[in-house]
Amino acid sequence: MSTPSGDPAAGRQRLAWAREHMPVHAALRERYAPRRPLEGLCVAVCSHIEAKTGVLLETLAAAGAEVVFTGSEPGSSQDDVVAALNEQPGICGYARRGVSEAELEALHLLALDHAPALILDDAAELTARLVHRRPELLPGLRGVCEQTTTGVQRIQAMLGDGALRFPAYAVNHTPMKHEFDNIHGTGESALTNLMLTTNLLLAGKQVVVAGYGDCGVGLAHKARAWGAQVTVTEVEPRRALRAHMNGFAVRPMAEAAEIGELFITATGSRDVIRREHFERMRDGAVLANAGHFNVEISADDLAGLAVERRQAREGVEAFELADGRTLHLVCEGRLVNLAAPTAMGHPAEVMDQTFGVQFMAALHLLEHHEALAAGVHAVPDEVDRRTAELKLETLGVATDRLTEAQQRFRHAWRAEEILAR
Ligand code: NAI
Repeated sequence: MSTPSGDPAAGRQRLAWAREHMPVHAALRERYAPRRPLEGLCVAVCSHIEAKTGVLLETLAAAGAEVVFTGSEPGSSQDDVVAALNEQPGICGYARRGVSEAELEALHLLALDHAPALILDDAAELTARLVHRRPELLPGLRGVCEQTTTGVQRIQAMLGDGALRFPAYAVNHTPMKHEFDNIHGTGESALTNLMLTTNLLLAGKQVVVAGYGDCGVGLAHKARAWGAQVTVTEVEPRRALRAHMNGFAVRPMAEAAEIGELFITATGSRDVIRREHFERMRDGAVLANAGHFNVEISADDLAGLAVERRQAREGVEAFELADGRTLHLVCEGRLVNLAAPTAMGHPAEVMDQTFGVQFMAALHLLEHHEALAAGVHAVPDEVDRRTAELKLETLGVATDRLTEAQQRFRHAWRAEEILAR
């Protein structure tokens, strides 16, 4: 199962392109390759195994780690990149595109056989697998860095359940991650892949975005920028208000279902679009998901309503309903930016900083794990700041610095201190 069927030459080419557009990682390799702070440690990376993830693996290996990788989702790894990575010294892994859930678990268990000291995870897939299926490995695990909203939620659930025995950094919650990756990365890549997969036009379309969190913000604003008329659905009153004041129509899904031509879910929840909504939708509606799990659109309900199913085009399944309407589900409701036939995941520049902060958080966690209690921790702000400074440097963007008087002013509270120069 570990043997990849991809063409390593094609994988090498993809890696080279990603590397060229990930200058933060080039700087990190230059800084840490001579020092090798991860020497002798096994670091497991569970993510969508494509070229940008490959560059992170290369940086970890350059910093001295024995790197093992595995896929975080059945449909999102690229076999040619997997093959090219498996050629590299210090890196080995187990991932394949289009595996079943059972095969994915088997691949995860192969990665866990390496007994990692650190896991860099996506949606807590490998972490949950270790805690649940291989608890004998827990004493060797120094910590986890988690890069997604869903994963942090899942590790918090482990903590609530008394199952968390190690510190975990919520890398997703750093500004350098969620303010860029979720908003711009998901926004751009989910919309471009959706439009390429369907070959339809966004301009003038009635688009419904479910969830106005970071991903939903990116999707809604970018769809509007392309000329779509966007409705947002929410369950959280302040997020709903934010969408309203940003000029979007906010409606319950039961109402939005009647209006939408294109639906995109990004809630991190389940059954956000279900039977009662399918029953009200317009003929020809297209349904796609950008949230982590393929449960946001209830494919079971859709299948239950369908009198016939057929492949409408690659990556799009048509469900014909008894009343003659047809609804279209994209990529079985899996992450459209990663599972679509054209999918390349997020743009390289944004992953450069997401994985940059993952890497920096990993170094910090390894250095401080003994002092950290078992639990979910915020990545220290200075780690995030340093990554931002590095990113700005690579962009050639300079900022101002606070003068001494401005620094004093920030800490002043007496009137005379505030007025003094
Ligand atoms: P978030 O927590 O910032 O936002 C989710 C929003 O959905 C919240 O405002 C919440 O109130 C709302 N929501 C929850 N249930 C809802 C329901 N039934 N109907 C309408 N709204 C509902 O989360 P974020 O960062 O936006 O992530 C959303 C999902 O996308 C997660 O599963 C995350 O892991 C995933 N994700 C996917 C990426 C991709 O590459 N496609 C990248 C980053 C995150």
